[in-house]
Amino acid sequence: MGRYLVTGGAGYVGSHLVLALLDAGHDVTVYDNLRQGHRGAVPGAARLVEADIGNARRLDVVLSDGPWDAVFHFAALSLVGESMKMPFLYFMENAAGGIRLIEACVHHGVTKFILSSTAALFGNPERIPIAENERVDPGSPYGESKLMIERTLHWAGKIHGLRYACLRYFNAAGADPAGRAGEDHTPETHLIPLVIDAALGRRPEIFVFGHDYPTPDGTCVRDYIHVTDLADAHLRALARLDAQSVTYNLGNGAGHSVLEVIRSVERVSGRKVPVRMGARREGDPAVLVAASDLLRSETGWLPKYAELDEIVRTAWAWREAHPGGYGD
Ligand code: UFG
Repeated sequence: MGRYLVTGGAGYVGSHLVLALLDAGHDVTVYDNLRQGHRGAVPGAARLVEADIGNARRLDVVLSDGPWDAVFHFAALSLVGESMKMPFLYFMENAAGGIRLIEACVHHGVTKFILSSTAALFGNPERIPIAENERVDPGSPYGESKLMIERTLHWAGKIHGLRYACLRYFNAAGADPAGRAGEDHTPETHLIPLVIDAALGRRPEIFVFGHDYPTPDGTCVRDYIHVTDLADAHLRALARLDAQSVTYNLGNGAGHSVLEVIRSVERVSGRKVPVRMGARREGDPAVLVAASDLLRSETGWLPKYAELDEIVRTAWAWREAHPGGYGD
């Protein structure tokens, strides 16, 4: 059994990792300011520290209560569009906050650190699928802020021997298949929950951001990875840290267009989704698909929910059962 600290553990991806850690019999402390996270997303078996990663004193107290076998860092702002309007907010909260957290971890003798990073640091990639050695060139302050944390980890590794995993998520989607957790953002900006709400009649339609992209049907293509498979990849990356630090692109390796996602929700729900085709959203690359070969070959990771319909089915089940999300 290990003892793990999970910042942002009350958020969407973080809460699914917390479930995976608890299911594996570990001891989990969630550190979350509950601004985006939800109290209801933290299972009773985990401890919750309600605090901001910018709160140096509180962080110090929690980290002193070690030893910690690893720190998982999810706490972050994560909206590309918002970061284009408020770059400094992203550099302060994500980059400066993450850097201070890493320094505090090194200070308190933490030896393993797992970062929730993003495909957004590839900007408009030249090659698809995107391998780990693809040139990084963030297209937004959000992507840049995560890159700054990745670079800090690189130097913390070189100078202080910190072992780290940089896990670059593609499009996290779906919900815990047992229905214990799901996706609840305010405001919701992600495609799958929005399409589901349109199918449920909770919003009038889904607005498709651009249909003139150089893709087979003209809409953007993304690599949707089930959030439980994503959580499993974290545990496998953690195990790799006994040998070395790692960087992985976390996707299924399959791309689906916006229209394919809409058709999938229609199949799963048996309902018609009202669709309106519209203008492009600023900053959206046409295609983002991961080459997940490295993760597969080095850790034995295999997605359990690789099919789009399976991913959508779990998202549908959770959203239908929780019309008000976590209700806070
Ligand atoms: N989309 C629509 N209509 C909507 C919402 C989304 O057409 O109402 C489209 C987007 O244009 C995009 C696709 O659906 O082509 C997926 O959009 P999301 O907002 O669900 O996800 P993104 O691909 O924009 O972003 C996600 C994460 C980011 C991360 C990025 C990495 O949310 O945090 O993947 O590529 F940085």
